[in-house]
Amino acid sequence: MKKITDNIFYCGVEHHDRRLFDQLVPLPCGTTYNSYLVKGSEKTALIDTVYPEKAEELINKLKEAGINKIDYIICNHGEQDHSGSLNEILELYPAATVVTNAKCKEFIMEMLHVDESKFKVITDQETLSLGNVTLQFLISPWVHWPDTMFTYVIEDKALFTTDFLGAHYPTSEKNIDKSGDKELTEAAKRYYAEIMMPFRTFCAKYVKKIRDLNVKYLLPSHGPYYSNPDFILDTYEEWTSDTPKNLVVIPYVSMYGSTELLVDYLKQSLEEKGVEVKLFDLVKSDVGELAMELVDAATIVVGTSMVLAGPHPSAINGAYLINALRPKAKYFSVVGSYGWGGNMENKLAEILGNLKVEKLNSVIIKGKPTNDDFIKVDELAEKIAEKHKSL
Ligand SMILES: Cc1cc2nc3c(=O)[nH]c(=O)nc-3n(C[C@H](O)[C@H](O)[C@H](O)COP(=O)(O)O)c2cc1C
Ligand SMILES: [Fe+2]
Ligand SMILES: [Fe+2]
Repeated sequence: MKKITDNIFYCGVEHHDRRLFDQLVPLPCGTTYNSYLVKGSEKTALIDTVYPEKAEELINKLKEAGINKIDYIICNHGEQDHSGSLNEILELYPAATVVTNAKCKEFIMEMLHVDESKFKVITDQETLSLGNVTLQFLISPWVHWPDTMFTYVIEDKALFTTDFLGAHYPTSEKNIDKSGDKELTEAAKRYYAEIMMPFRTFCAKYVKKIRDLNVKYLLPSHGPYYSNPDFILDTYEEWTSDTPKNLVVIPYVSMYGSTELLVDYLKQSLEEKGVEVKLFDLVKSDVGELAMELVDAATIVVGTSMVLAGPHPSAINGAYLINALRPKAKYFSVVGSYGWGGNMENKLAEILGNLKVEKLNSVIIKGKPTNDDFIKVDELAEKIAEKHKSL
C-alpha cells in the first residue's frame, strides 16, 4: 500500500482494460477505483471499496499489508463501483461497521442487501475519532447522486471527495500524484463533462466549500489524488463558471451529404469570422469528446437531415444527451436538409428543453445546398459571431 500521509494509505485498484463506463461513457485508457485506509492510534477505517469484479485485488492488498482489523468502512457514495465489494469486505472483517449518511445507507441496503445492523448513520459535520486521527463527514449531495458525501481527515487536512474531482485515468502507484499533467487535465475534463456537468451548480458550490477548508490533499475515488489542490480547483472554477468561450459545437448527421455541405460551410464561415468550431459526426464520434467541448461552447448548432418527418434518429439521440448534460451554452440553431416535408426544429427544441438558450435563425433547405442557401449560412455565422462578441 502506498503511504500518502503518516495516517493515510492507498489501497485502490486499477482497471486498465475497461473501455466503457455505465455502458455509456467511453474510457480511452481505463480507470481506477480508489480505496484508502486511514490508520488511527486506536481504530482503522477503510474509505470506500472497489468495483465488484476487483474485490479480490482489494482483499489481497489488505491481507498483504497485514490488516487484520478494520473498525469502520466509510461509504461516501452508494454506486456499485465503490460500494460493490462491501459484502466481501464485511465477510473478511465481520466486526466492521459501515459508516454513511441516511440516503447512502438506503441505497446500499437496496442495491447490495447489506443488513441494517451493520450501519452507523452519520449527519453533516459529525466526527468520528480513530484515536489520534479524526474523521469528519460533510454531506455533499448531487455530485453525482443524492447520496454523495465527503470525508475529511482533520489532522491531515485530507479530503476524500468520492466521485467529485475524479478522473478516469489509470495511475500506477508511482505516478499517482500528477498535479498539472496535461493528459490528466484532459481526462479530468472528460470525466467532469460526462458525469458532473449536469450538476454544475453543486460542483461550483463544493469547490468554494473545499477552498474554505484549505485542504492539503484531495483524494477522489477515480484517478490520482492531488497534493496540489489548487490545480484541480482552479480548473473546476473555469469549467463551472457561467461564461462560455467563443466556441460553436456542431453535432450533425447527414445521409447523402447535403447537411454535411451546410455544416462544413458553416464551420469555414464562422472560422473566417474568428469563431472556433468543433464538428462532430454523430454516427462516428466519441460522445465523451462531444461532451468535453460542450463544457465551454457558447453556441450549439445541430445539423440533421429530415427522416420520417423529423430529425434523423442519431440527431435525436445526440440532442437527448446534450439536454441531459445541461451545458452552459447560450445560443442554439438547427441546419439541415429535407426532401418533401416534416419538422426538425420543433422536435429538437423540445428535446433540448433543459437548455437556457436563445434560439437563432435556422437554415433548413430542400435537397443539396444552392448559392442562396450558403448565403443564409453566412448570415447565421454572422449572427453567431456578433452574439459571441458580447460573451
Ligand atoms: C430514410 C429516409 C427518410 C426520409 N424521410 C423524409 C421525410 O420524412 N421528410 C422529408 O422532407 N425528407 C425525407 N427524406 C429525404 C431527406 O431528408 C433529403 O433527401 C435530404 O436532402 C437528405 O439530406 P442529407 O443529404 O444531409 O442526408 C428521407 C430520406 C431518407 C433516406
Ligand atoms: Fe458514482
Ligand atoms: Fe465512481
